[in-house]
Amino acid sequence: MTTNTIKHVFSPLARQTLQDSDLTTPVAGKQPIRLLPWLQVIKVSGRLMDRGAEAILPLVEELKSLLPEHRLLILTGAGIRARHVYSVGLDLGLPVGSLAPLAASEAGQNGHILAAMLASEGVSYVEHPTVAQQLAIHLSATRAVVGSAFPPYHHHEFPNSRLPIHRADAGAFLLADALGAAGLTIVEDVDGVYSCDPNGANAADAKFIPQATAAELADTQGPLPLDRSLLEVMGNAKHVTHLQVVNGLVPGRITAALRGEHVGTLVQAR
Ligand SMILES: Nc1ncnc2c1ncn2[C@@H]1O[C@H](COP(=O)(O)OP(=O)(O)O)[C@@H](O)[C@H]1O
Ligand SMILES: [Mg+2]
Repeated sequence: MTTNTIKHVFSPLARQTLQDSDLTTPVAGKQPIRLLPWLQVIKVSGRLMDRGAEAILPLVEELKSLLPEHRLLILTGAGIRARHVYSVGLDLGLPVGSLAPLAASEAGQNGHILAAMLASEGVSYVEHPTVAQQLAIHLSATRAVVGSAFPPYHHHEFPNSRLPIHRADAGAFLLADALGAAGLTIVEDVDGVYSCDPNGANAADAKFIPQATAAELADTQGPLPLDRSLLEVMGNAKHVTHLQVVNGLVPGRITAALRGEHVGTLVQAR
């Protein structure tokens, strides 16, 4: 008889399908830990960056003033250049998986611009793998880093629609929740969410919405300044219970939001 010297490592999921929730829930149902519980995530909209120096310079000053008080992950979205590349790509019949990385590259460009303006404070742009694996060491060396808010689904983007459904708001939320961040602030070029587009044809009817759940916003029909996929993701969030949409064109709003003041639209996860 030969002695079996192989050490068997007990693993409760080793011999079962991962498709049976009765078997996986006792093992996988635990609340995940918060990796960076002190982190504040700020998502800056691409449309704000499109306004150039007039909008960016005061924003940069406000972000600089936040550094002594907070440790920040600043994430940028895509704006007018992504919209242009979408229309060229759609005209040519490009699939959504080809359009997503084109738009994502604009979010990255906006991040590089913002990081350059904050470089004197020790702030740099970092790519997705660095955010995923080395954010802690970067934030030990400096108070803030800039990254792209666009999630890297790229060629794996879901074919639900001809335009990528996972855009910068969803990407920023996914990161904030995965990191167990203390908060997420979405910086727009409007005061928050309205009943309809406050800059659209029916602007006179637009009513400001100070507070709503993600599900309530998902039930609305008209346009929103937030990705609809964000609202879906929020329903399953593990850590981030709410976010605030604030106007980045009004100095002081981001500062107030990070101090927990209600100065825009609060969106509750549930
Ligand atoms: N219900 C709404 N509430 C607020 N803003 C809205 C709404 N519907 C449309 N908008 C418009 O969305 C614009 C922001 O566009 P958005 O697509 O969110 O840009 P970005 O991708 O840069 O965040 C605002 O300037 C506003 O005119
Ligand atoms: Mg927006």
